[in-house]
Amino acid sequence: MAEPDHLLGMLRRHAPSFVSGEDVRRELDVSRQAVWKQVQHLRRLGYGVEGRPHQGYRLLSVPDRLLPAEIHYGLGTVTFGQRIVYLERTPSTSDTARDLARQGAPEGTLVVAEEQTAGRGRRGRSWHCPFGRGLLFSLILRPAVRPSRAPQVTMVAAVALALAIEKVTGLAPGIKWPNDLLLEGKKVCGILTELDAEPESVSQVVIGVGVNVNIAAEDLDPHRATSLQVQAGQAMGRLRLLQEALRQMEEWYGVWQTGGFSVIRTEWQRRALIVDRLVRVRLGDTVLAGRAAGVDEEGALLLDLPDGTRRRLLAGEVTFEESYGRAGHQPGGWAEEEWECRQG
Ligand code: BTN
Repeated sequence: MAEPDHLLGMLRRHAPSFVSGEDVRRELDVSRQAVWKQVQHLRRLGYGVEGRPHQGYRLLSVPDRLLPAEIHYGLGTVTFGQRIVYLERTPSTSDTARDLARQGAPEGTLVVAEEQTAGRGRRGRSWHCPFGRGLLFSLILRPAVRPSRAPQVTMVAAVALALAIEKVTGLAPGIKWPNDLLLEGKKVCGILTELDAEPESVSQVVIGVGVNVNIAAEDLDPHRATSLQVQAGQAMGRLRLLQEALRQMEEWYGVWQTGGFSVIRTEWQRRALIVDRLVRVRLGDTVLAGRAAGVDEEGALLLDLPDGTRRRLLAGEVTFEESYGRAGHQPGGWAEEEWECRQG
C-alpha cells in the first residue's frame, strides 16, 4: 500500500475521531515530518484533513474525485478495478487502456479520468462530458473466446451497467441494440468496445464506458441525451456507481465466460427497447426497415423484413419510432436517423 493510502486508511478507521501524530508515525514507520508531508499530499488531492496540536489528525471530508484509494475502498472485486490508472485529464481512457494492454497490463486494469479532451464514441463520433460530471472509464479484458464471440462482451457490459445504474439510482435504463442505455428515450450511457485479435483468439478487449451522471440539463442535447441527475432530480454519487459498475461487470463477465451467452441474452432481451418493435437499421448507405425479433445466440440482431425474410445483423445503427413503434402500429414518423452521443 502506498504511504498516503495507508495514512488515509488510518484516518478512515478513526473518523470522526482524531488519530495522534505519534500513532501515525509509529504505524507508518516514518518521521513526523514525513507524516506532515503526507497530510499535505492528501489535502492537495482534496481531502479535508484537520490537524490539531496534542490531538493529531482527523478526516473531515473526501473529494468528489474518482481517486484510486476511494475506488478501492469497499470495492470487493477480485480483478476488475484492482489495478487503477487515474488521470485527471486525458485524450481518451480507451487509448490509454489500449496502449497499456499492448504493454501487457492484466485483465481488470481500469483507466479512469475526470475529463477527456478527445473522447471517442462509436462510428467516429466524439464523446464529451464536463470535468468531474460523469463516469469515463475503460477496462482491459482478455476473454478466452474466439474473435467472433468478442462482440458479445458489449452486451455483457450493457446488462451489467443497466443493473448497476438501477441498483444505485433506482432508475431502470433500457438497452438499444447493441450497446446504448437509454432513459425516457434519451441516451445516458454509451459503450465502445475495441479489440486486438488474432485469427483464432482475442488478445485484448478494451471496454470504454461513458455515463452521464451529474450533467445539468443545459449541458445536454435535449433531444438525444440525458443524465442520471436530470432523471432523478438530484446529484448522484459517481464513486458508488463506478464501484457497482465494476462489481456487476465482473460478475456478468464471469457468467459469460463460464456459462456462455444464453443467460446474458435473456437478461439483455429483458431490458431491450427494440424487441418486437418496428425499427430502421442503417448499414453504411443502406437502411433496412423491419420488426426487431430479438438477438440470436451469438448476439446478432434478428430483423424481420416486410417481404417475410429474416436478416441477421452483426452491426448497424438502430433507430426506432418512439411512440408508435410497436409492431402492429403504423409508424407515425421516425426518430432521428442518427443517435448522437455528444452533449452540448
Ligand atoms: C458510444 O455510444 O458511441 C460509445 C461512447 C463511449 C464513450 C467512452 S468514455 C470512456 C471511453 N473513452 C473514450 O474515448 N470513449 C469511451
